[in-house]
Amino acid sequence: MERVRLFDKTFRTFIPNREIESAIDKVAERINADFNGCEDIPVLLCVLNGSILFTAELMKRLTFNCEIVSTKLSSYVGTESTGKVRQVMGLTADITGRRVIIVEDIVDSGNTILELKRILAEKGASQTYICTMLLKPEACRKDLRLDYVAMEIPNDFIVGFGLDYNEIGRNLKDIYILDQEAGQ
Ligand code: IMP
Ligand code: MG
Repeated sequence: MERVRLFDKTFRTFIPNREIESAIDKVAERINADFNGCEDIPVLLCVLNGSILFTAELMKRLTFNCEIVSTKLSSYVGTESTGKVRQVMGLTADITGRRVIIVEDIVDSGNTILELKRILAEKGASQTYICTMLLKPEACRKDLRLDYVAMEIPNDFIVGFGLDYNEIGRNLKDIYILDQEAGQ
């Protein structure tokens, strides 16, 4: 098991890259089955910054024409959600009348997704779908229909494969979990 130190905290390997990639293979297959042969050009909405790597890996596997649009939302400080979601960068293109697949790194409280769905409805998306790489159990308490979930994890703080601790650790190829035993 590998350990990494990010600022004041120690993390240990939790999901190796090959498992992440095979979970993305499976979720991409399901999206392809639903969207193949579509006559519109669905939008993949990359939620910056956490979803950069997941969006890149997912789009390589999609077999229908799609367009990438980005936006940036923020709610976490350190290892905790503030509960307040701010849109810090608007949508990079007009999505009026388009089908939008929200591509998220992780759904935790579900607040970010709820805010995104509100924004997309306001901007006139014809339909929204949610695709998340990771799902924490807490999210299930909200009345959220998640269309595509690659992996479910317990309610612990993780980093890597796009996810950060105070903006570092996003470049790690594997996913790491906070190591409580190492005294953080
Ligand atoms: P939610 O709004 O509580 O669902 O949180 C979603 C956002 O919080 C995600 O898009 C991540 O950016 C961030 N987040 C949630 N859990 C973690 C974690 O364990 N590590 C790093 N970021 C996280
Ligand atoms: Mg995020």
